[in-house]
Amino acid sequence: MVVTEAHKQSGTAPRRVTILGSTGSIGCNTVDLIERAPGKYVIEALTANNNVEELTRQALKLKPRIAVVADPASYGDLKRALAGSGIEAAAGPEAVADAAARPAEWVMASIVGTAGLVPTLKAIERGAIVGLANKECLVSAGDLLMAEIKRCGATLIPVDSEHSAIFQIFDFDDPGKIRRIILTASGGPFRQMTSRQMAAVTPEQAVDHPNWDMGAKISIDSATMMNKGLELIEAHHLFGLGGPQIDILVHPQSVVHSMVEYVDGSVLAQLGAPDMRTPISYALGWPKRLETPAARLELEKIGSLTFEAPDPDRFPALRLARECMMQGGAAPTVLNAANEIAVEGFLCGKIGFLDIVRIVEETLGKITGTAIHTLQDVLCVDLEARKIAGDFLE
Ligand SMILES: NC(=O)c1ccc[n+]([C@@H]2O[C@H](COP(=O)([O-])OP(=O)(O)OC[C@H]3O[C@@H](n4cnc5c(N)ncnc54)[C@H](OP(=O)(O)O)[C@@H]3O)[C@@H](O)[C@H]2O)c1
Repeated sequence: MVVTEAHKQSGTAPRRVTILGSTGSIGCNTVDLIERAPGKYVIEALTANNNVEELTRQALKLKPRIAVVADPASYGDLKRALAGSGIEAAAGPEAVADAAARPAEWVMASIVGTAGLVPTLKAIERGAIVGLANKECLVSAGDLLMAEIKRCGATLIPVDSEHSAIFQIFDFDDPGKIRRIILTASGGPFRQMTSRQMAAVTPEQAVDHPNWDMGAKISIDSATMMNKGLELIEAHHLFGLGGPQIDILVHPQSVVHSMVEYVDGSVLAQLGAPDMRTPISYALGWPKRLETPAARLELEKIGSLTFEAPDPDRFPALRLARECMMQGGAAPTVLNAANEIAVEGFLCGKIGFLDIVRIVEETLGKITGTAIHTLQDVLCVDLEARKIAGDFLE
């Protein structure tokens, strides 16, 4: 994790902000925080895939210099909707990357999936402070991304609630005194189901998360627990820890967001109500804390907090992700790409719930030993894994 002195001293309002993926769950929560703080932020760019209606609403309210849709077919609608507003409209994946390259001090990386990789790198290349929600880009290209952050003097502030928790309690001045970190997991909607029951679940059941209201892809990842597997790899890159130093503990109440155990036996935890506006605000205001409308934690009402070890047999995604992390190279890139394709396949009814992780494992078996040195290497492996996983869907 690289925090530059220049960034430590910044933080005077108004902060110039770009939100990549502003129409998603994380994006809308970020917009919500910004709308509640008039005059504190100036918006450079907002981007979406094709949700023109929400993007237009946000743009007319926040007045960015530019609003961008990744889907070229949505350009006409966006241009018409913004006509006369003075807000520039643009479309296409390159336009999203160009938006990230524009001069905003702070960028929220909240596009879902590997589609967010190139735009996030563009923000990093010009030394921005990046609030990172898009865990897939760190899983797919972690070594590359972390090297770019160092080279360009950028700062990455994690937005995932678990990594935000660790970031807040991790002793960056003396990491050698950390014995391990413990990522907590809600266990998802199927925590208590047998594998036989899981084989029959529908996409509607799988996106219905007990504690968090999130986009469809991360909700499915939570149900398979691949989300925790991706977070394991994310934590490995963010905090520079090896596999044995990262543990996972199921905590169904989602109150303890994660923990750090020090060599003297002390365990520090960060707690809060399950509301993504808290970790988003931590990244948005960093290095200062902001007021948020998030619910306050009332432990007397919750009563008890429980913890259990994850079940590796019912949730094999955890084992797969750990193996990929240890293996390094192309393995995490393949894991991530195959998972994106398999989740899409499940959401559109092509495969069953248990097929998701099976397809990821089979795809991993087909691509071995590829080294990753450049962005081009990542994109090639990503494409190949998508093709193979796509064939398995059929
Ligand atoms: N939601 C959470 O609570 C949460 C918590 C921790 C981490 N995260 C991570 O944050 C990221 C976003 O999650 P989310 O739940 O906010 O997802 P989401 O609700 O599905 O939103 C995704 C955003 O990305 C845009 N997008 C989709 N495909 C794109 C493409 N090909 N090119 C450019 N933009 C594209 C979407 O635009 P449209 O609206 O136009 O489709 C939308 O703005 C994920 O990596 C997730 O793992 C989310």
